[in-house]
Amino acid sequence: MQIITTKADLRLFLKSQYPKSIGFVPTMGALHQGHLALVERSKRENDLTVCSIFVNPIQFNKPEDLAKYPRTEEQDSLMLREVGCDVLFMPSVDEFYPSQVLTSINFGTIEQSMEGAFRPGHFSGVGVVLCKFFNLVKPQKAYFGQKDFQQCAVVRQLIVELDFDIELVICPTLREASGLAMSSRNKRLKPTQLENASKLYRALQTLAQVFRDGLPLKASISTIKNTLEQDGIFEVEYIEFVDTHTLAPVGIKHDPARVVVCIAALIDGVRLIDNLLVEHE
Ligand code: PAJ
Repeated sequence: MQIITTKADLRLFLKSQYPKSIGFVPTMGALHQGHLALVERSKRENDLTVCSIFVNPIQFNKPEDLAKYPRTEEQDSLMLREVGCDVLFMPSVDEFYPSQVLTSINFGTIEQSMEGAFRPGHFSGVGVVLCKFFNLVKPQKAYFGQKDFQQCAVVRQLIVELDFDIELVICPTLREASGLAMSSRNKRLKPTQLENASKLYRALQTLAQVFRDGLPLKASISTIKNTLEQDGIFEVEYIEFVDTHTLAPVGIKHDPARVVVCIAALIDGVRLIDNLLVEHE
């Protein structure tokens, strides 16, 4: 596996590999099986797989969240080597952003709910970093996890509206045996918190059933929110049923094939998100 830290070296190396097909897996490191599944899928579908590890400062709306983001680069590179990743691109912040970034991207209605609403500027930062990566790596396919559902919708819009010639491949969420979605942020949780965190998935399963049974959505959301918050373990930011493509809130009559239920909650200051398609899981 080539470990590359500068944009110039990345461009040179990738030029030397022409005309191999390139699959790209962008990450912020602290890798787990969910990330590795994206790399493995890319390996199967492309001649060359490039994975990036870059904790992108401009997508963090809270400095303390950025400061606490787990960094495990040595272990990450071992894991990537083991699954046969071809290139690890790991630039420093100064290398990647030599000057202050003045560009921002507004994704319109798609970022008005959920993560976009609770993390102002977040998707602009994601959009800018991905435009830069896409221009540097020039992949044919880019791999993203369904775990970050709204991010997938934002990337779809970015690719279509800005004419990137890239196929977006969305991969299923990998979970722990408890149902908890794998996440780099889980590394910040103690064993008892980890056990509690799996309640988020069970809450999503209950809510998906609520939708399928045609029960009132608002009342059910409020009951589940209260249950999660009652012993002070969780602070729920949002629970929403939204359309899988527009991400606009939906009502009970919406086509169930186009409904996803999403949740964001803090457990001891660690912010976790998850989602479930109401029909398929
Ligand atoms: P990060 O949180 O490191 O996630 C990198 C990729 O792994 C994302 O596409 C995410 O959806 C996927 N992923 C995370 N947990 C997963 C799981 N349990 N199962 C399957 N896939 C999972 O998302 C980002 O980084 C950043 O916003 C980034 C796109 C790299 C831009 O900075």
